[in-house]
Amino acid sequence: MTERYHRILRDPLFSSELARIQQLEGDRIYCGHDICHLLDVARITYISVLERLLSDPAAFCGRKPEELKDLIYAAALLHDIGRGREYEEGISHDRASAAIAEEILPRCEYSPEESDQILRMIRSHRGQDAPSGDQTDLAILLKEADRLSRLCFTCSAADTCKWDRHKKNQTIIR
Ligand SMILES: [Fe+2]
Repeated sequence: MTERYHRILRDPLFSSELARIQQLEGDRIYCGHDICHLLDVARITYISVLERLLSDPAAFCGRKPEELKDLIYAAALLHDIGRGREYEEGISHDRASAAIAEEILPRCEYSPEESDQILRMIRSHRGQDAPSGDQTDLAILLKEADRLSRLCFTCSAADTCKWDRHKKNQTIIR
């Protein structure tokens, strides 16, 4: 079964949390976490995977691109969905996003094994507990896509942004 991520878009909890973020970020001068950001991360991660498969068709344990896409888009759509709970309840958004994803993924027919992999990608996307170096690790590629999706080089709020100089994205790679 492919393209289950479409069901996430129609999930009531996903929609309500996304609307909550939109409302809470109305006056935010820094990066937002709207559907455009979530899709930017999905698409950049998927491009990274496709580029990797071009040079090594056996990468990702031989899994097909459409199978990987279903995991990547789910993780990307859900990776920041806990932002509203962070703003209002003080729960770190990687943990809050994973808790929301744990509710949504079974409704969208992701298996327990697939859900575990998606939750790992969500929990590690901020970087502290992410492994590093393996370009066939979806968690690493998602974390990198999250950074590459930001246009720091043209951001008017870059001077006061809490991201350190090395983290700020200064170019377009994908
Ligand atoms: Fe993000």
